[in-house]
Amino acid sequence: MHRPTSKILEQAARLPLRIRHEWLLLLMLTLLAGLASWQGVGWQGVVPAYLLLVLAVLARPHAAMAPQPLPEVEAGDATVDPLPLIGATLEAVDMPIFVVAADLAVLHQNRAAERAFGTLVLGAHLSARLRSPGILDMVRETVATGQPNQIEHSERLPSERVFILRVAAVDLGGAASDLGPLYVLSFRDVSELRRIERMRSDFVANASHELRTPLASLRGFIETLQGPARTDLAAHERFLGIMFDQATRMSRLVDDLLSLSRLELKSHIAPDQTIDLKPLIGHVTDTLQPLAEELGVDIRMHMPEGKVEVLGDRDELVQVFENLIENACKYGQEGKVVDVFVRNDPSQPVEVSVVDRGPGIPAEHVPRLTERFYRVSVADSRSKKGTGLGLAIVKHILTRHRARLIVKSDVGKGTAFTVRF
Ligand SMILES: Nc1ncnc2c1ncn2[C@@H]1O[C@H](COP(=O)(O)OP(=O)(O)OP(=O)(O)O)[C@@H](O)[C@H]1O
Ligand SMILES: [Mg+2]
Repeated sequence: MHRPTSKILEQAARLPLRIRHEWLLLLMLTLLAGLASWQGVGWQGVVPAYLLLVLAVLARPHAAMAPQPLPEVEAGDATVDPLPLIGATLEAVDMPIFVVAADLAVLHQNRAAERAFGTLVLGAHLSARLRSPGILDMVRETVATGQPNQIEHSERLPSERVFILRVAAVDLGGAASDLGPLYVLSFRDVSELRRIERMRSDFVANASHELRTPLASLRGFIETLQGPARTDLAAHERFLGIMFDQATRMSRLVDDLLSLSRLELKSHIAPDQTIDLKPLIGHVTDTLQPLAEELGVDIRMHMPEGKVEVLGDRDELVQVFENLIENACKYGQEGKVVDVFVRNDPSQPVEVSVVDRGPGIPAEHVPRLTERFYRVSVADSRSKKGTGLGLAIVKHILTRHRARLIVKSDVGKGTAFTVRF
């Protein structure tokens, strides 16, 4: 016969009562001493012997200090309840776990389960916490067949989380047979895994979309050149120019993607070259000068005295400032000036700010700027030959440099991108 759930719960809550052997021994010694002196042994003999024995008893290692033996679950030993032991063990597991009886009453809930689903009164039905009929049916099936089962379960509140919920029967056998089989429900949190999967598939979708657009345009022009414009030399000239641009765009995209994946591979290794930022930024500005002139933008440099040294990787830092200054010129074009401030104040971190007076970026876009392929205006970025990967690369490089990117933007006034080392 299995114990009813109420009985199990009562035993689960009960602390094992231990009789203190020391006190029993002391009582017996005192009786013996009394008996001896009554029998005529002089108190000079009894008292020292009594004191010695008392000391010996008290010097025994205290039961509470010695490691507690695990309760044994043996056939025929009905005095030990395995539930407290199971409960204590489950506390060490950092994954929500419920132990339920065959009638789905919750016998134990570990701390991780309390955190994930809130505290449950022991003995309450499982449905008080997990209302999904799918889960309850699954558990009932395991109760009926003894076979383990699993199901995917999502929680929306307090935040969206996805678990793989597994239920399996545990038959403790022997003395614990009166408990009947217990059922252990464990929740493996796969939210992070799902998020990464989603990001990966979004990324593949975005990357193929970005490549498909110039490819489709290339095919279109090739067909036109092979067909209707076969003999039109002026059209040849124009179309080949566009085709060249599209092919360049595709190879930039592939380069950027490769650059991102290379950065990801070495993100945990901090760079160790000592770099003077002043000549580096000067070089970047020089290479961007033709673009700035084409856009009618004046790049102004504001440098402190002396060297401004940081630990870094030269090529990667060139990529960072190239993208920030190029963005400021492209998207802040209408402000006409771009200021580059290099700050090396004592007891302050080294900072480089790229400030434009363009249209600014609405606040809701700012946190997402460093996502791959994220653009405030896709059409605008495409028309400026952007891939939407620039700031994602910047973010990766700065993470490897243990540096931060701070974006401050005022719509209608301009934007400041600051790198803080
Ligand atoms: N200074 C700026 N002012 C306004 N918008 C900006 C500025 N810098 C970036 N942005 C916005 O952020 C988006 C993402 O920039 P990012 O550098 O990642 O991509 P991109 O410039 O479009 O492409 P790529 O850098 O690969 O050429 C841009 O498309 C643009 O919408
Ligand atoms: Mg860019």
